Amino acid sequence: MTAPQVADEVLAYYSTRFDEHARLASSAAGVLELVRTRELLRRHLPAAPASVLDVGGGPGAHARWLAGDGYRVHLVDPVERHVREAAHAGCTVELGDARALSCADSSCDVVLLLGPLYHLPERADRERVLAEAMRVVRPGGLVVAAGIQRFAALFDHASLGRLHLDGREERSGRVLATGRNEGREFTFAYFHRAEELAAEVRGAGFAGTRLYGVEGPADSVLKAAEAATGRQVPEESELFASALAAARLAEAHPELVVASSHVLALGHKPGQAAFS
Ligand SMILES: C[S@@+](CC[C@H](N)C(=O)[O-])C[C@H]1O[C@@H](n2cnc3c(N)ncnc32)[C@H](O)[C@@H]1O
Repeated sequence: MTAPQVADEVLAYYSTRFDEHARLASSAAGVLELVRTRELLRRHLPAAPASVLDVGGGPGAHARWLAGDGYRVHLVDPVERHVREAAHAGCTVELGDARALSCADSSCDVVLLLGPLYHLPERADRERVLAEAMRVVRPGGLVVAAGIQRFAALFDHASLGRLHLDGREERSGRVLATGRNEGREFTFAYFHRAEELAAEVRGAGFAGTRLYGVEGPADSVLKAAEAATGRQVPEESELFASALAAARLAEAHPELVVASSHVLALGHKPGQAAFS
């Protein structure tokens, strides 16, 4: 079988055009994504020192706190710059592709896919990623897969007052219809319907699938406030506390999952010792 190739457009975006290392700290929406992802993972992960394979882990935003919590983290990413940066996050690192992992069968307790699935517009590629996650996680182990929610760009552009400008309405219409983002905003990507992501995880054989909205319904409020003032909304502000409370409250209402920019689908590999 030939080795899969990550799209040049995606490699160029992360290598030269965008600083992923700064993303989760340089805006309130990024901080909200980090805080919520961390609290959802902490709720579902087995106790440290379980082994976590962070596939598409980028520069190590999650690997860093996971290692700090005592997990044994191995990070895989196809972008050399990310792998170099992640080497300082307290984990081991490897240049690689989610569709062809080098890890042995049943060799880790948890597989994180917080990135690869939304950079693979072809369903067959996403199936290959999930099949690899199923192969390398141990029976009873956990997979956590992130998707960008289909309506995220619509909410963002509209709340920033620019949806009707510069062809965004037409491009957003295409994303809404097909899920495929061709790269003028962000890069080559696939935006999932939330239930579609859960179905892909189930389709790979994972059991007990659960779906979470990450940021909740108010991250566009944070983005709009930053656009209006030119200043980052602090994590210690009432506006941030309110957005975080909204995300937590929305969790109990599955219909509201479409209000989040990112969604997480969790499932366990059938076998003994599934954890909560
Ligand atoms: C937006 S970043 C997310 C980084 C980190 N996981 C996080 O949640 O903050 C998406 C990541 O997916 C990685 N990625 C893209 N295609 C991939 C593939 N085929 N296999 C593994 N990782 C991939 C990118 O290099 C990038 O680091």
